[in-house]
Amino acid sequence: MLVGRALVTKSDRPGAAYLADLFNLSGSVAIVTGGGAGIGRSVCLALGRCGASVVAADTNLPSAEETVRLLEADGCRAIAVETDVAAPRAVSAMTEVALDTFRRVDLLVNNAGINRPAPAEELGFEDWRSVLEVNLTGVFLCSQAVGRSMIRHGGGAIVNVASIYGEVGNPLLGTVAYAASKGGVVNLTRALAVEWARYGIRVNAVAPGYTRTALTRERLENSDYHEKIRELTPLGRIGVPDDLVAGVLYLASPAAAMVTGHILHIDGGWLAR
Ligand SMILES: NC(=O)c1ccc[n+]([C@@H]2O[C@H](COP(=O)([O-])OP(=O)(O)OC[C@H]3O[C@@H](n4cnc5c(N)ncnc54)[C@H](O)[C@@H]3O)[C@@H](O)[C@H]2O)c1
Repeated sequence: MLVGRALVTKSDRPGAAYLADLFNLSGSVAIVTGGGAGIGRSVCLALGRCGASVVAADTNLPSAEETVRLLEADGCRAIAVETDVAAPRAVSAMTEVALDTFRRVDLLVNNAGINRPAPAEELGFEDWRSVLEVNLTGVFLCSQAVGRSMIRHGGGAIVNVASIYGEVGNPLLGTVAYAASKGGVVNLTRALAVEWARYGIRVNAVAPGYTRTALTRERLENSDYHEKIRELTPLGRIGVPDDLVAGVLYLASPAAAMVTGHILHIDGGWLAR
């Protein structure tokens, strides 16, 4: 597995083969949480097409099974696992199933996430707690469970899915719990990167801007809201899940062997304003 190891550049090497090696995940095993829908499903398909065996983990088992059907139709190896990233026992069980099936886990994409928008002064405690538990505690629990096996196996790569709202406040909607959770993910990424570099585990994050998925569908169906987001996004469009794929692949692959603790903004320029 080449995830954390430097690639040797040979000047006589054909360009296409060298580039293919940079993103070759053959022989590696990836867990993607929230792999049943949206960004998680696109990431599962991309990792599978780059050669990884994929564990699509989701609270919604039928949706994870559909991801697996799509992967198998492409000739990829994959399994679906029902899990709740906020529940320590479920996370241990997910990790055990992955290890029992594939013997090791090289890549973890902490993608599962929820939002409960409400003005800060009205946000209920249960909504605050569930957003923090899924979006932040879930990233820690999965990283810890899978990270232990990566330490035993000599390394790996973790890619967290943060958000633009891990870096700035939301000008349009009350999302303090979401922003606090994603801000936590941003610095958890850096803290784990520094702590686990000694084990050959790289930890990075992508920070998506507005992306068309079930998470944003209702709000984006409001034409005023949609227009406002477009205006606030320098590249002038709403993202789609496939916009995230190349960034996650890069951070997961040997191409990023020297990259850790990095937050890659994939946001059409939102954070550059
Ligand atoms: N869509 C956006 O605009 C956007 C922007 C920035 C960041 N993100 C982040 O991207 C990630 C994916 O979001 P999406 O837009 O694809 O959402 P989505 O709702 O389309 O998909 C999320 C998936 O996670 C699963 N999930 C939810 N809670 C879970 C839990 N406790 N355990 C396991 N699985 C769980 C859901 O069943 C679903 O399949 C999230 O972390 C989200 O915060 C999304």
